[in-house]
Amino acid sequence: MTEADPVTRQPARLDGFVAVAGDDELWDGEMESYDIDGAEILLIRIDGEYRAYDGICPHQSSSLVEGRLEGSTLTCSAHEWVFDARTGNGINPHTACLKRREVRVADGSVLVSRTATAASAAR
Ligand code: FES
Repeated sequence: MTEADPVTRQPARLDGFVAVAGDDELWDGEMESYDIDGAEILLIRIDGEYRAYDGICPHQSSSLVEGRLEGSTLTCSAHEWVFDARTGNGINPHTACLKRREVRVADGSVLVSRTATAASAAR
């Protein structure tokens, strides 16, 4: 794997994944947004594991990094839609869901897929 270039801070790319952060960059219960190919990506760390989603709310496209992460619940700051941050599934409304990005941790970096998938079907 190639590390991010320390001079230009450009992320490494490998097998459809982009290194966005060091594996110790976020504390448990923190979230941060990153740019992948012009798309805002929300990276969340819960219970020591990373999850990534498209960072735009499916309701009216507000940035989810402006929302609140409380335990495993992510609340959009614009109109209070609530999501399970572990799965991306909607809690209120139940029918909403976030677009999930696959995450890998390797060689001290968190890598996020360049393509989104639907949120977990498990309810
Ligand atoms: S834009 Fe997120 S709840 Fe409306």
